[in-house]
Amino acid sequence: SIIRDEIKPIDGASDSQLSAIDGIAKEFDLTVEKLSEIVNHFCNEMDKGLEKSGMTVAMIPSFVTGIPTGNEVGTFLALDLGGTNLRICEIAFEGKGVINVKQQKHKVTENLKTGPANQLFDFIADCIDKFLSELVTVQFENDQSENDKKFKMGFTFSFPVEQTAINKGTLIKWTKGFTCPDAENKDVVFMLQEALKRKEVPVVVAALVNDTVGTLLSHSYKDPDTLIGIIYGTGTNGAYFEDIPKIKKLNKYSNDSEKMIINIEWGAFDSEKKVLPLTMFDNKLDRESNNPHYQIFEKMISGMYLGEITRNILLHLIDRMLLFDGYSSKELNRHYSFETEYMSTIEADESHALDDTKKVLEELLNIPSTTLTDRQIVKRVCQIVALRAARLSSATLAAIITHCGRVESGSSVGIDGSLFEFYPHFSARIKTALQELFGTNADKIKISLARDGSGVGAALAAMLTTKK
Ligand code: GLC
Repeated sequence: SIIRDEIKPIDGASDSQLSAIDGIAKEFDLTVEKLSEIVNHFCNEMDKGLEKSGMTVAMIPSFVTGIPTGNEVGTFLALDLGGTNLRICEIAFEGKGVINVKQQKHKVTENLKTGPANQLFDFIADCIDKFLSELVTVQFENDQSENDKKFKMGFTFSFPVEQTAINKGTLIKWTKGFTCPDAENKDVVFMLQEALKRKEVPVVVAALVNDTVGTLLSHSYKDPDTLIGIIYGTGTNGAYFEDIPKIKKLNKYSNDSEKMIINIEWGAFDSEKKVLPLTMFDNKLDRESNNPHYQIFEKMISGMYLGEITRNILLHLIDRMLLFDGYSSKELNRHYSFETEYMSTIEADESHALDDTKKVLEELLNIPSTTLTDRQIVKRVCQIVALRAARLSSATLAAIITHCGRVESGSSVGIDGSLFEFYPHFSARIKTALQELFGTNADKIKISLARDGSGVGAALAAMLTTKK
């Protein structure tokens, strides 16, 4: 049998502790047979989404048809909204692949994420205004037309949007903890442009892109062989280049290009709960979330949720008196208090006594006291949850490569997001799963970090449209 991950012994554990951990490990295990079943199901869902709109896997046409060459020259703004931070960048393309970036970041508060949409967009317009006055030095000439005196901006909006043009799209449904009630079904570019008008900020929103589309574009700028762009961060999703005739729902679209980028929106995959191996810990998380029965696949994989699944397991063990001698803490009892970042720290903790793990549990989460056995159990639980996430991640990646007929020829994949960049073993675990699925063909899949894809990508999209 294949060893999927190194399993360390748990010192001094009782039989009931060991059998509880074993039981959980089994529930979270993903055999290669199960993985293949998920790959096949996902391939079918991709086909359905290309045929009709409104499907579970939305397969959203991005209207981005150009592929960057690396020789583009020009300066554009980029706005990135969709995870933990709001980012504004000025991106100068200097040709020959050289890019210069200035940026400012702002935290998006809970209040902004859940209040009226106007409040959110006004906040964004204020941030852009601040950025222009503090960091941008470009001067317009007096004889330039009024329109030319405005900055062109690419807008990365990392939520499912039904796009109808490169600069138009209505929000289908918020994800990742955003819930502003009056924004769904509205055009997000229009809302932003109106806020910019209200605040008299001289910016035109030239392109609207998903972060995965931006990641794919920016990685293609460096590596023209790129087929897929992926985010493993707060949320998870992917985009790829599709042959335009295969996008059947895109009627009467004529353009000289052969390919268009599709934003898959795979976070919503299997929201019917048919093939994914959900456990009671996943179902509890889903039931208690602010979007129950949505984004089921994302809830098993991404940074926003992994810590919460782990917390659910730890509480289950505590309630059975199998962990921390049956003691929890106010902190650990609070939803989402066990951050995915803690899992990263714990999985990276190679010290003999698991000192960093002790700090997380006793200092950050206020557990009264922990034994080495407790800490080893916690580490094992993190491993179980994160291993499943990585293996599930390989399934959608394998499905796109299969769908595009690139198993034999291979392809290049650009990936961004904190989980991919910082979570220990995440990419190695994906690679192992790909090897199980594809054998030696897995070696032809070139996976690399595409840092800041959403900023550079949005600016590229703005440039590709203004060029036309
Ligand atoms: C969520 C969003 C999606 C985005 C992903 C990664 O799944 O719905 O649009 O690409 O998160 O940020």
